[in-house]
Amino acid sequence: MVDVKQLTPLSYQLGEGPYWDETNQYLLFVDIMKGDVHRHYPDNLKQQTIHVDNSKQQTIHVEEGPTGDSVSFALPVEGKPSYLVVGLGRSLALVEWPLDAPDTLTVKAKAILHSVDQHSPTNRFNDGKCDPMGRIWAGTMAAETAPGVLAKHKAALYTLNTDLSIATGVDKISLSNGLAWNKEATTMYYIDSTDYAIYAFNYNAASGKIDNRRTVLDYKAASLGDDIPDGMTIDNNGNLWVANFYGHKVICIDPQVGKIIRQVSLPASNITSVCWGGTDYSTLYVTSSQVGISEDKVRTDKAQGGVFAVTGLGAQGAPPTNFKVDLSLLKSKIN
Ligand code: BGC
Ligand code: CA
Repeated sequence: MVDVKQLTPLSYQLGEGPYWDETNQYLLFVDIMKGDVHRHYPDNLKQQTIHVDNSKQQTIHVEEGPTGDSVSFALPVEGKPSYLVVGLGRSLALVEWPLDAPDTLTVKAKAILHSVDQHSPTNRFNDGKCDPMGRIWAGTMAAETAPGVLAKHKAALYTLNTDLSIATGVDKISLSNGLAWNKEATTMYYIDSTDYAIYAFNYNAASGKIDNRRTVLDYKAASLGDDIPDGMTIDNNGNLWVANFYGHKVICIDPQVGKIIRQVSLPASNITSVCWGGTDYSTLYVTSSQVGISEDKVRTDKAQGGVFAVTGLGAQGAPPTNFKVDLSLLKSKIN
């Protein structure tokens, strides 16, 4: 039987980026506009938080201006999971979060690896994830006036390679969101939210290049109303699980036929992202957002902005891939 449980009574403004840390068996997630990263240990319900303070961070690329305080994802470095690469404003930054840190801590970035979107200073990073080879794919978006309301085609999807070079994967993106790869590592799935579509690309694992974009599911044609496609993961059968902002639900899609095969209802309205976790990767962790919900509703309904564990789905995912960077290369960036 499908069971949905809120992890703790805590709720978040823009909960996002759930990521299961295989080494330490905790769930990482972020609260984007607050600039916070949380880690939650399901075994004992212990939770710890860092706030990434960017206020006095000197950017390494001196031509850049300040990059803002949002933290849009946090991905562990392979072999050194206390190091996280985060989307910090419109920069990619390295932060360190020791396992024995106090329960709340403010940290500064140890290094700014890259800053992007110079043409659009109010852009910020949004979702990011590692591909099967351990590169980071992370995309940007323009500033919003409301969820999904923003200037179009001003953002891009970037690849942070394992040698720390950066490349543009897709340009003219509006609201870069969910990413997933099939287990054969031949297809990349990707969401540009305000296209209301889920795309597939041919993916070349060796080169990190993608081509042949096609649509897997068109939200409007599938009668999904105002639902905005947001974060995404894939299960071991190759089906996609997609968070529907404004939709109170996660939908499961068979990308081979482009059809919705299941829906999971959640007590929160604005579902932002999903990941598989737990010892056998059969728990679907789900984040949500309070943005766009009235203050009254947020105050009285703690499910809005909650993080949830969904069990009993009869589906499983694979362990996520960490960022596979050469540690000495990374350390040479730390000043
Ligand atoms: C973004 C939000 C946006 C939402 C729309 C999220 O990934 O972080 O700012 O409103 O997508 O679904
Ligand atoms: Ca997202």
